[in-house]
Amino acid sequence: MSKASAPGKVIIIGEHAVVYGEPAIIAAIGKRTYSEAEKSIKCRYMDSRWNVDLVFTIEEALSTMKKADEIWKICSEKKDFTELLQFIKRDGFINYRKAVFGIMIKKMKINECFTIKIKSDVPVGSGLGSSSSLAVAVTKSVSELFKKNISNEAINDIAYEMEKLIHGNPSGGDNAASCFGGLLWFEKGKEIKSLEKKVPYELENFVLVYTGPPKKTTGELVQAVRNLDENYRNKRIKEIGKMTSKILNALKKKDFKKMKEIINKTQHNLSELGVSTPVIDKIAKAVIEINGAAKLCGAGGGGIMLCWYEDKSKLIKTIKSLGYEPIETELGAEGVRTEKY
Ligand code: MEV
Repeated sequence: MSKASAPGKVIIIGEHAVVYGEPAIIAAIGKRTYSEAEKSIKCRYMDSRWNVDLVFTIEEALSTMKKADEIWKICSEKKDFTELLQFIKRDGFINYRKAVFGIMIKKMKINECFTIKIKSDVPVGSGLGSSSSLAVAVTKSVSELFKKNISNEAINDIAYEMEKLIHGNPSGGDNAASCFGGLLWFEKGKEIKSLEKKVPYELENFVLVYTGPPKKTTGELVQAVRNLDENYRNKRIKEIGKMTSKILNALKKKDFKKMKEIINKTQHNLSELGVSTPVIDKIAKAVIEINGAAKLCGAGGGGIMLCWYEDKSKLIKTIKSLGYEPIETELGAEGVRTEKY
């Protein structure tokens, strides 16, 4: 048996824009997904959160993965992943779970069955990287079980294949944060860099707020942004990209006034891309009124918001006065790791 865990993530800045090659700054958070793996007669996927207990063969796992891959290629040509998302979501995500196994079996050249048991304290559909932390944690636990001794880079690549199932054409930023941990500068296909030296202090006075379950998945929200008029979309995407570089400078200098300005401008751009909600707008307005900063996190459409104010207790009071429960968590947590069992 083997056990591993990986953190969820929060995008400090750069969501959506990162899909189009702009940089993002992403922090691993103090909430993790745990995966236990053991050898078994059949393949078995268990997830206590959904009462899922799915048993299938290696052949089923591989054929589902192959089918998903075929649909992915067609969708990629059309630049529309709706069909893939429908396939993956069918019957309570059965195809996703089998294909996740298929990817591990193929990529790690495994020829025996195994069981994975998943537990997680990363809330689902909140923008906190529940799927990326799962992808990284299961890959690590299975690689340990079969003594594959693979690098974190290889784990990250496998996790990315799993993320493609559920998000179509993700940037890869979420799985990178879940895998490598800490605070990362991420550019799709170019750079994954730790910001440990540039921002050598703990990020403080940030508070998360859960605004409710998004009506759409990350894949669907990314698709909705893609469907916008190209010129309209690209103007906002470029703007968010510039904000990411600027916020890094502000963080380096501890210029929190500038940082707040940038966060609020970014929320404005995300709202113009159509991924904000009336609840997010209401919370952002209240935080801005006390001279703080707030933005949605991840794909948006609900889920988590990131808020900042130098007087954290005042920020918490403001959020509570609107009827929402602030969430405090570590930003810059440890990446994937083996756990004792
Ligand atoms: C999702 O957490 C972040 C998005 O930018 C999508 C991605 O990066 O793949 C919306």
